[in-house]
Amino acid sequence: MANLASLVKVAPETVASLRAKLESGAPLPEKYRVLFSLRNIEGQEAHEALALALRDPSALFRHDVAFCLGQRQDPAAIGVLQALLRDSGEHPMVRHEAGEALGAIGAPDCLAALRAHAADAAPEVAETCQLALERIEYFASHGGGGAGEGGSPYLSVDPTPPLPADTPVDALRRILLDPKQPMFERYRALFALRNRGGDAAVAVLCEAFSAASALLKHEVAYVLGQLQHPRSVPALSSVLRDPREHAMVRHEAAEALGAVADPACVALLKAHAADAEPIVAHSCVVALDMLEHEASGAFEYCAAAQDGGGGAQAAAAAVEAR
Ligand SMILES: [Fe+2]
Ligand SMILES: [Fe+2]
Repeated sequence: MANLASLVKVAPETVASLRAKLESGAPLPEKYRVLFSLRNIEGQEAHEALALALRDPSALFRHDVAFCLGQRQDPAAIGVLQALLRDSGEHPMVRHEAGEALGAIGAPDCLAALRAHAADAAPEVAETCQLALERIEYFASHGGGGAGEGGSPYLSVDPTPPLPADTPVDALRRILLDPKQPMFERYRALFALRNRGGDAAVAVLCEAFSAASALLKHEVAYVLGQLQHPRSVPALSSVLRDPREHAMVRHEAAEALGAVADPACVALLKAHAADAEPIVAHSCVVALDMLEHEASGAFEYCAAAQDGGGGAQAAAAAVEAR
């Protein structure tokens, strides 16, 4: 199930120069470009550079490094991800991403830390670990679990499989919005709706912002970013604007608005680029930078970031842009 096959080989000097950029205290958007390059490169050097990036002062950046380590499905990352999950001084969003990444890697070594934090004091961490354990169990009995497996049109390694593709939208809606349903089933409904796409599915996904779970809402915003549907803009905008909403949810909403990229989204991202919550402010700054790069055509930034890899092409494009 490893996703290592989609990683590309590059010259050791290329990895060394990417690592040097991370160590040079480059601005956050530049570090993101390095991250999305490293993410697609195979080998111990790339892994070590990513492990080093986990010491960055930005919690937003650290959580995306953990995300990339999970998407790579490289068992070499299990040790650093377990340490991150166990670190109660670390930001819960980063610990959440470490737990999810361990679920994505799915090796037996991932289980101990996930079990130890399945009742963590931070609800988003506890829920993530429960989902990750169920994911590992599910794929152990059903097979699969690699990038894009399970009928996903995206190449991301998702935290759960989708419900069957022929499940009616009404049934998916009932499951997604029902707080009594297990979170694993609600996530499965969410991914089935994402895979369905279109107006009706997007409308149901937007309804889920009324849920109590910050974890569920952040995943809703994440898949809306993958869908890039203009109908999601009003809901995503209210999430980003709401200072009482969990930072993790607002962060995903900002990234999703960056992916939709219509002029109203850009204006809102600019308005929140100096938000009082650093995770939100940084997300807006990075999203605006990605848009600028996309517009200039210089760099396939979003392909690497949002399509779950983009594989060799994205890595090559990213590396070329150095
Ligand atoms: Fe997440
Ligand atoms: Fe995120």
